[in-house]
Amino acid sequence: MSLLSDISWDDFEGLALLEKGPFFCPDGREAHVILAQQFTRERLDSLGELATCIRRISKTHDGMDFLQGVLSHKRAMLYFSQPSTRTFLSFCAACEILGMKLGEVRDTSMSSEFKGESQEDSVRSFSSYFDLIVMRSKIGGLAERMAWMLSNSERTVPIINAGSGKDQHPTQAVLDIYTLQRSFEKTGGIDGKRIVFVGDLLRGRTVRSLSFLLTQYRDVEQVFVAPDQLQIGEDIQQMLSAAGVKFSLSDDLRGELPNADAIYMTRIQDEWDEKGGDSAKIDISSFSLGLDELELMKQAAVIMHPLPRRTEIAPEVDHDSRAVYWRQMRNGMWVRAAMSATIFGKQDMVLEYGEMHGA
Ligand code: CP
Repeated sequence: MSLLSDISWDDFEGLALLEKGPFFCPDGREAHVILAQQFTRERLDSLGELATCIRRISKTHDGMDFLQGVLSHKRAMLYFSQPSTRTFLSFCAACEILGMKLGEVRDTSMSSEFKGESQEDSVRSFSSYFDLIVMRSKIGGLAERMAWMLSNSERTVPIINAGSGKDQHPTQAVLDIYTLQRSFEKTGGIDGKRIVFVGDLLRGRTVRSLSFLLTQYRDVEQVFVAPDQLQIGEDIQQMLSAAGVKFSLSDDLRGELPNADAIYMTRIQDEWDEKGGDSAKIDISSFSLGLDELELMKQAAVIMHPLPRRTEIAPEVDHDSRAVYWRQMRNGMWVRAAMSATIFGKQDMVLEYGEMHGA
């Protein structure tokens, strides 16, 4: 069994991402949620099944009463030092559905970080009061370091990475997989599909995490459509080559649409510009979807977006049945509830209730 308490930080930090994964799931299910690389296809299926079960149970008053009791003895801390709407609120809602009490720090100018406290000491303080820490930070790898630190402290509180730097957004990637599973339920599942990623692929952490998860599915082809300056990183291309995944780079969205099964749109991530306004100089006009582009797509295709969006999807597209991004966003709440229940070992209790009550 791979335990974070059995390895020094220096040794752990030096491991490849795939080697780090098992440390976050030491007994086969999530103890922390830190990296896309910790999820096997089997775990993705189990989380999807649990998310569906929670979603169905929640449809009745009795079901909601049951869910409210699942984690009513636990408290969650939401530590978001980067802006968020969906991830923050869906975690709030997920925790509330399971009966957890919530605390939050969203503005570090109002916490003791303003007085010079390190993130390590802040997280250690949270662990004194809370049973789960959900954290978003602009610092790549911070959640990983905090998970190691708490696993080597007297209070091993689970950490969920709600977005770290430009590198990882694992809970988004799992909800994206759940959305793809549901979208392709009647058309053979995710295997064999062609997924087209569009936009700022260099700095979008959701694409990086999802690209890895898709390698778990058979014969999935990945296409990366972006202006040259924002094309997917070499590290992802190397990861795909090593996994034997068919992929290609393109700057021709209209040319790729007719063969796409899923189009995953993303916005320009100009918060990462080295010099303010750098991204504004890039012509992104041909990397957006409007009514004309819909004409080119398969009828069975789906349009996804992690949101927030800017101009890359015209509002008129929202009315098309292939636009699933609002459903994708709501799926995040069910998947995050499933993860939280699993971290505390409550998955079987929920599934048994679901089976008994036809959910
Ligand atoms: N998709 C996503 O992470 O959205 P937020 O930044 O609003 O949380």
